[in-house]
Amino acid sequence: MSCMDCSGDGSGGGVGEVLVSREAIARRVTELGREITAAYAGRELTIVAVLTGSLVFLADLIRNIPGRVRICPVFVSSYPGASTAPAGRPRLGPMPELPAGCDVLIVDDILDTGQTLAVLIDHCRRQAGSVRTCVLLSKTRHRKQNRKISVAVEADFVGFDIGEEFVVGYGLDYDNLYRNLPDIRVLLPRRNA
Ligand code: IMP
Ligand code: MG
Repeated sequence: MSCMDCSGDGSGGGVGEVLVSREAIARRVTELGREITAAYAGRELTIVAVLTGSLVFLADLIRNIPGRVRICPVFVSSYPGASTAPAGRPRLGPMPELPAGCDVLIVDDILDTGQTLAVLIDHCRRQAGSVRTCVLLSKTRHRKQNRKISVAVEADFVGFDIGEEFVVGYGLDYDNLYRNLPDIRVLLPRRNA
């Protein structure tokens, strides 16, 4: 069984089965790089990278996009500490200055409710000539089923569609842990002591 208890105190809250393997991720990221390269053929691309979650995905993705790519990082936090539920509106760090009229691609690790992307799209549209979005994972079913979600955001480029489970690894975290795992895994529920 490929399960790790990373809580340190043996109380659980570790990580479970692999949901998306490192091999599958590598294949899909290469394809996404090709799709994005074709979509922006001959044009300079300005990537607004949503940190910290997109860190690992971004590093692999940009090496599959030849040509002129500008990286503009922005820090966003959606979940407070040890939580798997968003705390309302995402908190944004300072927004990058974008070249007027540029072609923006917002890159994030995962699209869940769409609140994070909605805020960023809104900001980028004020300066950019075009704004598109790319996420490694999308929780489409969760978004469609959740009636409380009022934002209607879909990403232009999506790596994988997944279910409702909370996932970690390949940059995705729980309380800033597990970003270093090479595969994407399901977070196990905490066992009560
Ligand atoms: P949204 O604003 O609800 O779309 O949430 C997007 C943000 O929530 C992402 O950038 C992630 O940081 C975080 N998030 C949503 N689902 C997960 C998950 O399953 N694992 C880790 N982070 C998640
Ligand atoms: Mg994030």
